[in-house]
Amino acid sequence: MHKIAIYPGSFDPITYGHLDILQRACKVFNTVIVAIGKNTSKNNLFTTQQRISLINACVQNLPQNVINNVKIMQFNGLLIDFAKQQNAIAIVRGIRTLSDFEFEFNLAGLNAKLNNSIETMFLLASEDKQFISSRFVVDIASFGGDVSGFVPPVVKQALVAKFAK
Ligand code: PNS
Repeated sequence: MHKIAIYPGSFDPITYGHLDILQRACKVFNTVIVAIGKNTSKNNLFTTQQRISLINACVQNLPQNVINNVKIMQFNGLLIDFAKQQNAIAIVRGIRTLSDFEFEFNLAGLNAKLNNSIETMFLLASEDKQFISSRFVVDIASFGGDVSGFVPPVVKQALVAKFAK
C-alpha cells in the first residue's frame, strides 16, 4: 500500500525544525505532502507562493529519496477535508514543548471528530531543534539578528531581504 501523509503548517517560513520532521516522516510514509494551510490566528510574513518557493528550494537540498517522496501543496479549507481529498492516511505534526502538546492535542481531537479515519501522528522535535520556531526566527531577523542556525541559507536571504529597508 502506498502510504500518503500530510505534513500541514503555516511554514512562515520553513525552518530546520520543519525539515527535520519532514525527513523523519519520509522514513514512515511513501509520500509526504507538505501542505500550507491557513492558520486564522496568524498574520503571514511571506505570501503562499513565496513560502512554497522557499520550501521547494530547501527540499531540493535534501537527500534524493526525500526529494522523490515530497510534494508541496496549498489548501484553503479544512485540513481534514484536504487530507481526505489527497487519500492520506495520516496527518503528521511535530511537537517541541508541553504547550505545543496542548494545542496539538486539541487540533488532533477535533480533526478526529470531523473524520476518524485519518490518524494524527506526532514526531518529537529532535533535541537540537526544540527551540526553533518560525515566529521567533522572524522576530530575530526583524531586529537584524543572525538566523543561520535556525533556517537554511535561502530562507535567511529571504528574511534579510524582507527586513532590508
Ligand atoms: O504551523 P501552524 O500555524 O501551527 O499550522 C496550523 C494549521 C495550518 C495546520 C491549522 O491552522 C490548520 O489546519 N488550518 C486549516 C483549517 C483547519 O482545518 N482548521 C481546523 C483545525 S481543528
